[in-house]
Formats: sequence, structure tokens, C-alpha cells
Amino acid sequence: MTTRTITGRLGGLAFGGDYNPEQWDEPVWKEDDALMRRAGVNLVTVGVFSWALLEPEEGRYDFAWLDAHLERLHANGVAVDLATPTASPPPWFSLAHPDALPVTPDGTRLTHGSRDTYCLAAPAYRNAARRIASALAERYGDHPALALWHVHNEYATLCHCEHAAAAFRVWLRGRHGSLDALNEAWGTSFWSQRYTTWEQVLPPRATQWHKNPGQSLDFRRFWSDETVAAYREQRDAIRAHSDRPVTTNLMLPAYQNLDLWALARELDVVTSDHYPGSPGLDAAADAAFHADRVRSLGGGSPWLLMEQGTNTVYDSDRVLGKEPGEILRHTLGHIARGSDGALFFQWRQSRAGAETWHSAMVPHAGPNSRIFREVTQVGEAVARLGELAGSTVDTSVAVLHDADAWWALGVDGLPSADLGYHGELSRAHRALWDAGVTVDLAHPEHELSRYALVVAPSLFLLSDASAENLRRYVAGGGTLLVQHANGCVDDRMHARLGGYPAEPLREALGIRVEEHRPLRTGERIALSDGSYGTVWSESLRSEGAETRAAYTHGMLADSPALTRHRYGTGQGWYVSTRLDDADYGALVRGLLQEAGAEPESPGLPGGVEAVTRHASDGRRWQFLLNHRADTVPLPDPAHDLLTGATVHELPPGGCAVLRRT
Ligand code: GLA
Repeated sequence: MTTRTITGRLGGLAFGGDYNPEQWDEPVWKEDDALMRRAGVNLVTVGVFSWALLEPEEGRYDFAWLDAHLERLHANGVAVDLATPTASPPPWFSLAHPDALPVTPDGTRLTHGSRDTYCLAAPAYRNAARRIASALAERYGDHPALALWHVHNEYATLCHCEHAAAAFRVWLRGRHGSLDALNEAWGTSFWSQRYTTWEQVLPPRATQWHKNPGQSLDFRRFWSDETVAAYREQRDAIRAHSDRPVTTNLMLPAYQNLDLWALARELDVVTSDHYPGSPGLDAAADAAFHADRVRSLGGGSPWLLMEQGTNTVYDSDRVLGKEPGEILRHTLGHIARGSDGALFFQWRQSRAGAETWHSAMVPHAGPNSRIFREVTQVGEAVARLGELAGSTVDTSVAVLHDADAWWALGVDGLPSADLGYHGELSRAHRALWDAGVTVDLAHPEHELSRYALVVAPSLFLLSDASAENLRRYVAGGGTLLVQHANGCVDDRMHARLGGYPAEPLREALGIRVEEHRPLRTGERIALSDGSYGTVWSESLRSEGAETRAAYTHGMLADSPALTRHRYGTGQGWYVSTRLDDADYGALVRGLLQEAGAEPESPGLPGGVEAVTRHASDGRRWQFLLNHRADTVPLPDPAHDLLTGATVHELPPGGCAVLRRT
């Protein structure tokens, strides 16, 4: 990661959104200029889906319209985040290169008419993407309006075509070296799957029953590497002509196809889009989970919220409105956790096309609307926070996240269909958020010694290096909570032998799991401390750990369920079932106390979010977001950047950004 930043160029935090002027005409552009000034917009993303306009036929570019918009925006004091349009190839492209259309596992070749319809492994697509990125960079690389390059949009499309198969084989040769090693890694002695030539090896296409788990996992890894390579090609083509920072927008947590740690290493600034899946307090908690993850991917550096919605959250099959004040709270929630600004999808709500009903900063109703008024207020608030650009967030607690572990829980044939990845990760984060502490996400191979408490949910796959790293963390004084179904397979999806979880982590936990005993859907299992578990239980033996709670019934009666082991100067905790939410929350609060991890503001009631950003010169700003329906007195009043006055209380739904010395 380089230190290229955008806020220096903007002179403060970023505020704006995706701007698609090609959907409108001149009178609207004029109104856009005036409304952007009114709302305090200083950065817009242009060109995300403009390939058909920019290159109306293969090799013939038309930049005149984009020249005019960039000039207009620049004259209006608005900087540009210029996108390469490669997430949406035009119809001419798919007719000219049908082999570059993606193929689903069942062999269906998709066609144009939507977006994200391409195969990243197809040479025709990669060449076309590199060409248009290069042409844009050559033309606009040092344009005075340009603040940031936005490669592609939310890389996500998978493909199982012949190009993907060929590239997969090359990747597999690189990883395994020989066909014998691949056969060994994938366990092909079972079910007569042994490969005798490389041509027999395929992506995990539709099969009669369970697919080979090693093959499924390796395909995920391959596709992630292929995506990172595609990003780097565009980035490098841009860098040949431009010194402005380059990024691509991630989307968490629904972004299932990439090793985000690996992709984030390639970005000059990490950017991400956030659309919560449910309203109210859950949406605020989800925003915090999102923001903590994005910040962590960039190693703690300031990042940028590239998209959020003004009035919609998706609740599976409908869009729900945000309540008055919620746009501001969500925006501040992201900025509190390290975003140097907030952008939306999109500036003006479309009047036609597939996202006509997705929200925007200027809704169909126009500027005389609650939403635009709130957007203007949010713009004013963001403008008042300029002094904290570049500051960072300190934490002493981490939750572990690993793409391999996530993919491992997506293969066929697992012992329980109720084992989840994101659900467990977000639950761990939520328990810590409810307890008022700010959380990093960390990879299990990261250096962890600066954390007082580390929580490890859902690491079904745990590499040898990770197991040793976690042992070392505990030995060196850390408090580690390892949760059920952890360390069950190695990085080839081979079961750990001799007991779970992986050695040498077992040594730090002082236990040995002898048998998994998944529970039936809805079944609950009682523990001796009055708590309950669901989904999973385990028969485990203590090898030095003390039993903090035992199972009470059935075959597992009196055997350990929750254990603690003092090891080195730290302690390793193990919980072998999925505790009910309230019991899990109590366990996490107890561990925070044991580990000496203080909440951000001990004097505040639950439902008031507190996070602090720190500057390198010692200045600090404390964000306070009242998600409650009552007024909350502040134990330690201070100058509030949002109002310019000292605040003593937060009204229902109110926010403050207090300058602390
Ligand atoms: C994503 C995309 C946008 C838009 C929004 C709204 O984040 O990047 O183009 O589709 O979702 O759903």
C-alpha cells in the first residue's frame, strides 16, 4: 500500500456520490451544479457504467462528452473519482467475443442485458479492459479534476468456461507442482477421481452429487488470484500515465469471491460500499462491522466509503426507508471508524433502467424533499470534520477473518448445514459492539500481540502457520477465545488427525476434541452455568484446561463445554457449542474484563456508540451516536465539531463529534 491520499487534494473529507450525467440532459446538468454546491459535494464518481458511450464500437473512442463533464465539474469545484467502465461491457463486445461471456457451473452461458457479464479469464475481455483503462488514463491522467481512479466496480462475477479451466490448470501447476501432488492434495483416491492428465482437471462445474472439497477450495483461491491479476493489469495501465491514487470498490460482506486481504494490498486507498440488510439498530451495527472490516483490510489507514444509500436498506425482497437522522448517523458511523468521507450511490435517482427504485441524494421528487434536505445537512456536517482527515482508530480487540476459512465452510459434505461463516463473524463483532469496544479484523497469521483479546469464530480451516501463531499469541500474554468447529481441516481441506483443533493450538487451549456432535435444527443443549447452546456440540477432554461450564445431559453430561487454560502468560478459552446470543454476549463481556479491554466510553448506556479517531500529533475526536429513543446526558461534555458549541447531552438519534485533548 502506498501513502497516496485523496483528502489533501480535496482539502477535507470527501462528500458526494456516483454521478451518471449521461442519463440526463443539459438543464439537469445545470441544476446538478447548483445542487452539488448546495449539498457541499466535493467528489463524484464518474463513468462506472459508461463503456458503451466511451467506446461505441471496438477501438473507436468518444471522449468528447466526458471531457465536457469533467470540465464542468472542475469549474464547479467538484473533484472526480474516474472509473474504468469494465464492469459492464457493451452489447457489441459480447457479440464480437461470445467466448468472453461467463458460464455458470451448469454450463449456461449468460448473455448481455444486465451488468457484470464477462469472464475475467477470457483474453478478449482482459485485453479490452486493459485497453480502455489505458486510453482513459492517457487522456485524463493529469486532469486537474482527477482525485482518484476507480477501477471496475465490485469485482464479483465467477466463470466456469474453457478459458477459466485453462487458467485454473496453470494456477494449479503453480500451486501443486505436479499432478501427483494435486491428486494427493485433493484426496482423489476416494471415489475414483484420480487425474492422469492435466486436461482432465476442470473447474467445479455441476456434478451429480458432492464436489471434491479440495477442488472447490482451490477454485476459489484461483479465482481470487485471477481477479487480483485483472485489477493489477488495469492499475498498472493507469499508473503508466497518472500519479493519482488507484482503487477498486469492495462490497462487504456479500463479496464472496475474493481474498480481500490480498486485494487490499494492491489498493492505494481501500474503498468499499455498504448496504445494510436490515433496518434500525441492526443497520448501525452492520455499518460498524463493515467499517471495522474495511479499515482493517487497509492495515488501519484511512479508507473511503465509496457507496451507501440515502433511504434504502435491503431486507431480502424489498427496500426499506431510513428514518429521519439515520443517513447522518450511518455516515458518521463510517467516518468514526476511519473513513475519510462518505459517498453515495447515486447522486440523482434514475428515471429509467434497472435501478430506477434505488435511492439517491436527489430523489425522483427533486430537491424539495426530506431526503435532499437531509443530504444537505449531512454535507454540512462532513464539511465541519475536515480537521480529522488522515487520523486513525486504535483498538485492543480483534476478531479473526480468513478467506480460506470462509471458503472451507462453503464446500459440500460438511458435518452440519448450520455452520456459518459471516453469521458467526458478525455475531462476534456485534457482541463486542454491544459491549462498547472498537474492533479490528485480523488474519490468523497476522502479528496479534498488540491485542488484549482475540476472538476466533468459524476457522473451520486453520493452517499450520495460523495454529502456531495463535499458540504464540497466548503464550505471550494474549487472551484468546476459540469457538466451536475450529481448526478441523488444514489448508488442503484434509481433516486434522488425533483430535481437533489443529496442533499446536490445542496445546494453548489445553483441550482435545474427540468427536463432533452437531445438533438437530432447533435443538438446544444445556450447560451447567445456566447457558444454552445450539447448532453444535463436541465431546472434548481437558488436557490441562479448567472446565468453566460442562454439558448437563445425555452422552456429554459432565464433560467440558467451556474451558479456560492458563498457558505461558496468557489464557486460551474454548467454547464447544454455539451459545445463545445473550449467553455469548455475557461470555464476551467477561473476557473483555479479564483482558482489561475498556469500552470506549464507560459512562454511556447501551445503544450509544462511541469511537475515537486519533491524530499522530495527539489530537483526538470522540464520535458519539445515540441510537436510543431517549436523551442521554454526557458524562464528559466537550466542544462538538458538528454544532460548534459545547454539548452536554445527546437528543434521541443525535450525534456529536467531541474534540478531546
Ligand atoms: C452496488 C453498485 C452500484 C449500485 C448499488 C445499488 O453497490 O456498485 O452500482 O448497483 O449497488 O444497489
